[in-house]
Amino acid sequence: MSGFKIAVLPGDGIGPEVVKQGVKVLETIGKLFHHGFEIQFGLIGGAALDEKGVPLPDETWELCQKADAILLGAVGGPKWDDLPSHMRPEKALLKLREGLKLFANIRPVKFYPNLAFSSPLKENLLKGVDLVIVRELTGGLYFGKPKGRFEENGKVYAVDTMYYTYEEIERIAKVAFELARNRKKKVTSVDKANVLETSRLWREVVQKVASRYPDITLEHMYVDNCAMQLVKNPAQFDVILTENTFGDILSDEAAVITGSIGMLPSASLGEGLKGLYEPIHGSAPDIAGMNIANPLGTILSVALLLRYSLRLEKEANAIEDAVEKVIADGFMTKDLYLNNPSAKKLVSTEEMGDIVVEYVKREY
Ligand code: NAD
Ligand code: IPM
Ligand code: MN
Repeated sequence: MSGFKIAVLPGDGIGPEVVKQGVKVLETIGKLFHHGFEIQFGLIGGAALDEKGVPLPDETWELCQKADAILLGAVGGPKWDDLPSHMRPEKALLKLREGLKLFANIRPVKFYPNLAFSSPLKENLLKGVDLVIVRELTGGLYFGKPKGRFEENGKVYAVDTMYYTYEEIERIAKVAFELARNRKKKVTSVDKANVLETSRLWREVVQKVASRYPDITLEHMYVDNCAMQLVKNPAQFDVILTENTFGDILSDEAAVITGSIGMLPSASLGEGLKGLYEPIHGSAPDIAGMNIANPLGTILSVALLLRYSLRLEKEANAIEDAVEKVIADGFMTKDLYLNNPSAKKLVSTEEMGDIVVEYVKREY
């Protein structure tokens, strides 16, 4: 029996509700495939602030350092919105990403036929959409210095700095080209090179990396156009490679293709195998505690955890296949169910977790 240490950080709002379902599925995989998953829970975000007075307690950081992989729900909420930036729940997530050097954020976006009506886009545009956003995660505006508020001559200034080094661009570009090799062999690099200096360097470096991958087609696209193309003709994309802020915004937009932001998983990776896995959505304070949140983005994040950090491809596929069948059979949480004639049964967060578990068990 292989022993894997998995740190689980439920966080705030719907975080604990969706993570609970992810853990159910992970434990099911452990039993069926005879893996010893050592699951340890940690506090993060607002939950940690309330209990320990800081958003990322030392115990949580140590837990994550020792773990083979980390599963996270979401952090943040109105209760903690007025705290200074270094105390905000979101800061804990940024510290984890930066501290563990997880520079590559992979966000797959897949269309499931039964969810066509859950999306506001027309069905003919959605067919065949299977793209992945490769978002640079530890650079750009999020981390560039100087950053902060300043007062000078009686005036108040706020500054964020967009900053990228050659090496930061090169390593994330490689991730995108490697991924494209096993997919449709196309990389769309998204930037704002008509205005931003960081984007001009981005384009140059991506072009250089591309020359080492003659089998991959590279195209460059401005981010404003990309935002439009994603809803106009999303099937044109294979791998979208972009910097931190653009990737954050484009991935929420791309979620609309799948019918709900609750569908999208993510993997944050560095040089080694250790990774942080989380749905791309936030803590959804408007629906927290109602048992209606969609847990599939979290459950699909567990599949990515198995694939990328534990190298358990068969187990990852078992989860992805189960999710596909659950949707094909018409089980849907409220976000997908409304206005969707393909939906057969409205299910709660808990029920969705149980159904995925059942479907995984059925096959193995
Ligand atoms: P959000 O993603 O939490 O919610 C946006 C909308 O999507 C809401 O209407 C919400 O109900 C809905 N939604 C989100 N997840 C859903 C799910 N699984 N099932 C069904 N509906 C879902 O974004 P927001 O409202 O802008 O942010 C709320 C809080 O979450 C903020 O504090 C923000 O900083 C934080 N946040 C955290 C993360 C993270 O932890 N990774 C990501 C994004 C936002
Ligand atoms: C995400 C979130 C985070 C981000 C926030 C909560 C720091 O929006 O994971 O997409 O901007 O990266
Ligand atoms: Mn985001």
